[in-house]
Amino acid sequence: MENKSAPLPPSTVWKVPRSKAHLFNQQIKEEILQAIEPALFGDYWDFPNLLIAFEKSFAQFIGMAHVTAVQSGSTALLLALKAAGLQYGDEVITVANSDMSTTSAIMNCGARPVFCDILESDYTINPDLVEALITDRTRGLLPVDLYGHPANSKALQKIAKQHGLFIVEDAAIATAARDFGHGMGAFADLVCFSTCSTKQIGAIGNGGMVATNDANLREQLEIYRGYGLNPATAKGQHAGNDQIADGYNLKMSPVDAAVLSVKMKFLPEWTEKRKQIAHQYETRLQGVAGISLPTFRPESEPVRREFALCVQHRDRVFDTLRENGIQTALNYCPPAHQRKVYQELNLPGSRQLQKTEQISREIITLPIDPLLTSEEIDYVCDQLILAVKI
Ligand SMILES: Cc1ncc(COP(=O)(O)O)c(C=O)c1O
Repeated sequence: MENKSAPLPPSTVWKVPRSKAHLFNQQIKEEILQAIEPALFGDYWDFPNLLIAFEKSFAQFIGMAHVTAVQSGSTALLLALKAAGLQYGDEVITVANSDMSTTSAIMNCGARPVFCDILESDYTINPDLVEALITDRTRGLLPVDLYGHPANSKALQKIAKQHGLFIVEDAAIATAARDFGHGMGAFADLVCFSTCSTKQIGAIGNGGMVATNDANLREQLEIYRGYGLNPATAKGQHAGNDQIADGYNLKMSPVDAAVLSVKMKFLPEWTEKRKQIAHQYETRLQGVAGISLPTFRPESEPVRREFALCVQHRDRVFDTLRENGIQTALNYCPPAHQRKVYQELNLPGSRQLQKTEQISREIITLPIDPLLTSEEIDYVCDQLILAVKI
């Protein structure tokens, strides 16, 4: 869980910041300024074309038929659940180690999250524990590709098919990751991404996408992100009067769509760089006493937003690294069932989250950004190895 209320200190105060996204924006300043011109000074009625252009290029990148660009990863999750038909009193099986928006999206539909424990190996949902949590109220599964580690949605798809459940996948921080040879979402009905500034591909402010291969679900998304209006009559003379659902106004800003279209061409290169940095961390930290690295199924190809790992004496190590100028983070801690908002609710599954709680006590994330240098990563490793020894 990121601290979203407190402003982050400027990255210049850190020897190794979590993100250098702003520096990359400066490098491609001219391209960005040119791309946003139509959104700033063009005709309002042409704005949808900026969204359509970005949606098409992202769809091609992840290998899915339809992409719907919205205002954030959080709204992507809400709209995906709405499109999947989630209703009051339903249950969705998910994990407690995720962003607040994962559980909030379920609650905001009037439904209940049911928590499933995670794998110690890659910190994602344990598919072997899912069936025991299914009740006659269960409507869907919501796996999270946390830290950019693909959850085993292929195994979940088998369970979902047997029980008639939908899968909405939270790939907010897993853009460009792959599993079983496919992009994220290949085994889900709907998959959600975030483009907040520090993500694998970042907008100026916030942004998000929902992708699906199902044209009917795409239509539902269009309805919910567009005031609940009927898309079939959207271009007619009486456009704006034909409301068929309780929708929202949650389209991505045309400025952000234009910026993201520019950035799409850098995504393969940045993905490669993220993988190289992760490899450098793995090589340096493998086998160090007090450090335990995540491990992955052979099919899983993670793309880390940050490098997550478990360490002994986590809180002390966290403080020491920050004192030494490294912007480490404790994301998604505490897990959802221990947060103030849910503590009293005793949501189903909350008492069987031993691995979730253990990982939440030990996890720490190290900076990954395509512009970080090999020397900066070495510095982080040197400091971490010293910190776990003390
Ligand atoms: C796992 C996960 N899901 C959803 C979100 C929400 O995305 P956004 O911040 O774009 O609303 C985040 C944000 O970091 C996230 O980490």
